[in-house]
Amino acid sequence: MPLTLADCMRLDAQDPGHTHWAQMGDRFDPGTPGTLYFDANSIGPMPRTAPLKMQTVLQEGWAKARRRSWNEHDWLAQPRSLGASIAHLIGAGSNDVRVTDTTSINQYKLLRYALSVAAPRRVIVLEHHVFPSNRYVAEAIARDHLAELRFIDDASQLSAALAPKDVAVVALSHVDYRSSTRLDMAELNRSIRAAGAMSLWDLSHSAGAVAIALRQSDADLAVGCGYKYLCGGPGAPAFLYIHPRWADAAWPAIAGWMGHADTFAFEPTYQPGTGADRFLVGTPSVLANAAFSAAAQLWEEVDPVDLDQRHSSLTDTLIQLFDEQCAAWPLRLLSPRNHVQRGGHVALQFEGASALAQALVEQGVIVSSRKPDALRWGIHPLTTSHQQLWSAVQVLRQLLTSGSWQDARFERPMV
Ligand SMILES: Cc1ncc(COP(=O)(O)O)c(C=O)c1O
Repeated sequence: MPLTLADCMRLDAQDPGHTHWAQMGDRFDPGTPGTLYFDANSIGPMPRTAPLKMQTVLQEGWAKARRRSWNEHDWLAQPRSLGASIAHLIGAGSNDVRVTDTTSINQYKLLRYALSVAAPRRVIVLEHHVFPSNRYVAEAIARDHLAELRFIDDASQLSAALAPKDVAVVALSHVDYRSSTRLDMAELNRSIRAAGAMSLWDLSHSAGAVAIALRQSDADLAVGCGYKYLCGGPGAPAFLYIHPRWADAAWPAIAGWMGHADTFAFEPTYQPGTGADRFLVGTPSVLANAAFSAAAQLWEEVDPVDLDQRHSSLTDTLIQLFDEQCAAWPLRLLSPRNHVQRGGHVALQFEGASALAQALVEQGVIVSSRKPDALRWGIHPLTTSHQQLWSAVQVLRQLLTSGSWQDARFERPMV
């Protein structure tokens, strides 16, 4: 039996876990009226308390307390406290995560750290199709003669790449930014560790969308975006994770005062702080952290198992709606059908993906596209409803039926 709107409404009314999804959704700003958001893979929704949190930092912190805020509002502790708030979502110990800098910078810091720990091994293994910034960061390290790069087409080639026993670190995207394919972290970590190498996972397209078990699957290092599913706000600081077994194994590549064992001793020489603290570099972005803290407060209440189930229900529903209602058009599911092999978004392959995405955005269905032909639907489990999926698919059908997405005004590229 094909899914109906009533089925979608029934699914929305169910709360099989501990989280009350409708109430959780109400704690986020709904955005522009009449608009349906499927872009959590780019910028996650805004918690309603974010403006007040920022306003408080501006008024109470900056305007009034100023320098004293570092003590009175504990601004320096934010990278640690925000990290602790999201640690359970990624299966990490609460002291093993820091919220700081950007994903690309954290990728650099942890690649360099792995190279130091694993010396004299100096090979970095990467997938060809990895998010470009991760690749650029590794290329620059190699250009400085600090590493050699070994590319694989996909994870099936990993064993061969690990065979020479010279690999320091394997840097993998947990979820591919185009297709949303999710790798089996536990299984790959076993091969990586058995070969004496370290793993570095990019969780940008999984953290805050699906459950992640970093410790249980024995991951060594991880990074991820703060502005996507984690809802930290545009340009939010990213996060990094380090397994405690490596926490005090080497100096960080960027030794800054915030990562010093005693920042305010102003010692002439560097002493790394303990554990993940050493990866802090400079003064935290207090305003950005204020926005992030609104989401962090909500994440503390979210059970990752519930989150995962909700995401699975939503994305399975979306795929079923595509199958049942869009079979007449050349849209192909690019993402795996099985939820454990899928990340935050559902991707469709369509030759006119960029134009169709823009036509959908004009109709208030906010999706994104990635070259050459991926149409991405980023599903946020805290704010998306099954009913919204139904409505969005009706708009998609109307555009495909009328062919209006082929209009010349949709030819310009969109970010
Ligand atoms: C998988 C992945 N890694 C890294 C990045 C870059 O993150 P940042 O801008 O925080 O450096 C992105 C950005 O979209 C991404 O999708």
